[in-house]
Amino acid sequence: MTGDGWDPGLYHRFREQRRKPFVDLLASVQPVPGGRAVDLGCGTGELTVELHRATRAAETLGVDSSPAMLDQARDHAGDGVRFEAGDLAVFEPGGHYDVVFSNAALQWVPDHAGVLARWTAGLPEGAQLAVQVPANPDHPAHQVADEVAREAPFAAAFGGEPPADPLLEVLTPAGYATLLDELGYRDQHVRLQVYGLHFPTTADVAEWTRGTALTRFRRALPPDLYDRFVDRYRARLVEVAGDHRPYFYPFKRILLWARR
Ligand SMILES: C[S@@+](CC[C@H](N)C(=O)[O-])C[C@H]1O[C@@H](n2cnc3c(N)ncnc32)[C@H](O)[C@@H]1O
Repeated sequence: MTGDGWDPGLYHRFREQRRKPFVDLLASVQPVPGGRAVDLGCGTGELTVELHRATRAAETLGVDSSPAMLDQARDHAGDGVRFEAGDLAVFEPGGHYDVVFSNAALQWVPDHAGVLARWTAGLPEGAQLAVQVPANPDHPAHQVADEVAREAPFAAAFGGEPPADPLLEVLTPAGYATLLDELGYRDQHVRLQVYGLHFPTTADVAEWTRGTALTRFRRALPPDLYDRFVDRYRARLVEVAGDHRPYFYPFKRILLWARR
């Protein structure tokens, strides 16, 4: 357990399922031999190294705000890859990067129009932007978390509104396409893709969400209350989604790629 809510071990429990959208996003990026790439919200860094190799960049920088994730990422530094602490919401690449890449991280900050404008400002002609965000705030796995957060005894512990689901900030595919056009990208493709996840039971979905969507509650609640929150969440999810064995979770993600 870490103060910033992220637990690299828990996150990697579903390493293979989380890897697939990264591979699809990476496939959209053209190599930039000798160039520079940045991976915003790089997590534990293994995928930053894959990005570095696939783009054949000379230098790749991984940026993350979680000390726990960065601790692990720094083991992967070297051969042109380095990592530093930073907030992707305010990151300004300026003219320095040929690829701005972000997999499963932009959804953690608000104002995607403002953030993508900052990531774009000053990028040279030909530079590429590649971003993947989850897009399923309408799934019971997310809606049940919000519902339980408003129940006693959890609601009182937040001292006001419970932390909102960051996925509510995610735009529609058409919204991102319009934004990319407004930002001056000459080529682009944006798609919604559904990744089918198979869990042994409905209750096991809680193990997936504990690694990501529930981290905002982990940050806000004392450890014993957070454990109770997860138990209540799991039970309510089974009531709402049904006790399926196995359980199929059609996980929606938006993948966007654009070139200046
Ligand atoms: C779901 S993980 C994705 C990690 C990695 N990109 C991957 O594909 O495995 C989200 C990452 O975004 C980071 N993150 C969240 N908010 C951030 C922010 N404002 N600035 C930088 N990193 C952030 C988290 O610390 C976490 O490592």
